[in-house]
Amino acid sequence: WVSAADGRIKGWDWQANNDNGFAELMTRNRWVDIDAVGAQGQVNSHGSKIRVKIVIASEEQNEFFFPGFIDTHIHAPQYPNVGLFGSSTLLDWLETYTFPVESRFGSPPDPKTGHQTKTDPKDTPLLAQQIYDQVISRTLSHGTTCASYYATNHVPATNALSSLCHTRGQRAFIGRACMDNPKFCVDYYRDFSAEDSIVATRQTIEYIHTLDPEGKLVKPIVTPRFAPSCTRPALQSLGELAASYSPPLHIQTHISENVNELALVKELFPEADSYAGVYDKYNLLTPRTILAHAVHLSTDERALVRERKAKISHCPASNSALGSGICPVRTLLDEGITVGLGTDVSGGYSPSILEAARQACLASRLLGQSAAWQRDHSQDADGKGSDGREKLSVPESLYLATCGGAAVVDMSSDLGGFDMGMLWDVQLIRLGGVKLGEKSPLDGVPDGSADLVKAGPVGNVDLFGTESWEEKIQKWVWSGDDRNVKAVWVGGRLVHSRV
Ligand code: GUN
Ligand code: FE
Repeated sequence: WVSAADGRIKGWDWQANNDNGFAELMTRNRWVDIDAVGAQGQVNSHGSKIRVKIVIASEEQNEFFFPGFIDTHIHAPQYPNVGLFGSSTLLDWLETYTFPVESRFGSPPDPKTGHQTKTDPKDTPLLAQQIYDQVISRTLSHGTTCASYYATNHVPATNALSSLCHTRGQRAFIGRACMDNPKFCVDYYRDFSAEDSIVATRQTIEYIHTLDPEGKLVKPIVTPRFAPSCTRPALQSLGELAASYSPPLHIQTHISENVNELALVKELFPEADSYAGVYDKYNLLTPRTILAHAVHLSTDERALVRERKAKISHCPASNSALGSGICPVRTLLDEGITVGLGTDVSGGYSPSILEAARQACLASRLLGQSAAWQRDHSQDADGKGSDGREKLSVPESLYLATCGGAAVVDMSSDLGGFDMGMLWDVQLIRLGGVKLGEKSPLDGVPDGSADLVKAGPVGNVDLFGTESWEEKIQKWVWSGDDRNVKAVWVGGRLVHSRV
């Protein structure tokens, strides 16, 4: 039922087929619709009813197939810093933690001038190879089948990340982070000039196009790090570069994450109407653009983003960790903007999109209660006042983690579900099963033992034997982790499994 030729779903006849090692797991199969329709009737007042689907693999072991997670925003070279941010906020976090680690992915700076030097491909630090391999292992083990990666500005290391994703079989967009503005960037880690930024970016694009000519697994993404890190000529050329390909290349950047950043953009681009206006001026707001964060966008900016059909990556763990603010996801959805989830490692402290889904739910629950929000939204359009509609439900957060992400990376017809012809980018989730009165495999097992670790944190206990799949899914989202991910496929290829 998955075509070996193209890794797509070709039917649901469930024939025994052990080629890929999963068919035998299916003792029973049926669709379960986890209805994402909440109290408001619709997740998106412009769209149709949305559903998150699971396919049950084993009722006894509470195993089910779920679409692979899509991480629409992650910085691969920041992985060594996961969990390290102290009480910094965005701009000092970049200087204190982020630029130092990212700069290590190329040759050391010139000892005389202190400026970044060109990295010879022969000198590509072993570190890049090792860290990027770990990032791929870790994200796959958390069920991420597709990721939009920021690399550093080093060409050899960026190419190494592309090759690794290609070899390991993770679907990926790979972007060389462009940063040529000496007014913001540090000398030891910045492009020599706008021109050099474009030449180097083109080298990474060509490398990926040679590696994967049809873009079946790995694609380039044009990546101006964010407005403050780029000069006007660099922004201009990057917009032109993306548009010069057919189809035009994807673009990713950050927008409106932190209030000090907003002030900096105003200072550096006094001529612009708004932060979104800077990107729009240089043709960087396109239907294939991923904008990370979007915490503080104005009404006009949101209208512009929608008009250009640019997409938003919501990174709730990072927004909370760096104290950036709470992204008004419900407002974005209601206004018809496409939203997916991002871990934003290492602004975000976890490589797990399940954690991002959980944090999206939590942040949305706090938003309606925040004093400022209450003040500004004391009357909704219907005059009834705030009724907690900011809250995202568990199915809605899972929708964002899968279908939402698929729309953000412009692959809605290929990813995020189990429709005929879609790519088999799937995770097999195991919640485990313990019925009351039966001996649990964990009875008497000391905390921390290997068996307990293997069983995972949910170790599902259905006290009355009446638990619905909706309830099981809630337990998974609130308390699950990578121990519940039994196997992962990308395009039909098994890329991760745990016994
Ligand atoms: N803005 C510019 N660079 C970064 C980054 O690396 N992470 C986050 N979260 N925001 C940024
Ligand atoms: Fe980021």
